[in-house]
Amino acid sequence: MSQAYDELTRAARQLIAIEQLLGGDFIPAKRQPLDVPDFAAAAAPAGAAEVPAMAPEEKSAALKAMDDGEVKVCTRCGLCQGRHNTVFGEGDPNARLMFIGEGPGQDEDATGRPFVGKAGELLAKMIAAMGLAREQVFIANIVKCRPPNNRAPLPDETAACWDYLMRQIRIIRPEVIVTLGNPSTHAMLNTRVGITRLRGSWQIMPQLADGVGGIDVMPTFHPAYVLRYYTPDFRGKVWSDLQAVMQRLGLPLPTKG
Ligand code: URA
Repeated sequence: MSQAYDELTRAARQLIAIEQLLGGDFIPAKRQPLDVPDFAAAAAPAGAAEVPAMAPEEKSAALKAMDDGEVKVCTRCGLCQGRHNTVFGEGDPNARLMFIGEGPGQDEDATGRPFVGKAGELLAKMIAAMGLAREQVFIANIVKCRPPNNRAPLPDETAACWDYLMRQIRIIRPEVIVTLGNPSTHAMLNTRVGITRLRGSWQIMPQLADGVGGIDVMPTFHPAYVLRYYTPDFRGKVWSDLQAVMQRLGLPLPTKG
């Protein structure tokens, strides 16, 4: 009885989150076919299996050691000069799903936590609409220090920080990565193709280092961009991208009626 009640409550919360995310009648009356190719997971690239996965309890310690011992004291690029805090990223070290943004903004620099400002509020709604809690996913950025005036990270800043992100991915081993916006998508997929063309279609992270790569990537619009162009069209596209991710992860897609 109480398990059924908990399940109903969780489903109701998820429906409310979707309504909040999209506003209005965006929940399909029945499951709609998704406008994404349903390709079989690509074969793991050579070398991917060579690095053994860490035990779940080791992951958290490995992430903390990297944050405390390296990222918090990092001086690899000029961004360290203007920062108040590094922003390592946070979430479940065993997350099946990872979100990657571009870099900390003012709120993140002040708190040391990723996506806590206005864009973060929208990201939280997106995650809730998927039926997940923020703590169940892992949220990180391409660079760990705030670029001045919220500009996109420069190539040398991305390069300096790249190894941290790759090691985070190697430790966490998410099944799916959602890239948020152009800088993140360009870096993760090693492409210059724009987000408007890439979003909604499954991509695969290239094999970049031993044991890292071959991961399914869903590019979507950055929440800050969606806030700027807060139209049903943009919100609907993001929701469609998230549904594709839910489908890939086997998460239940809510339907009305
Ligand atoms: N935008 C990002 O890309 N990352 C954050 O952490 C916050 C805003």
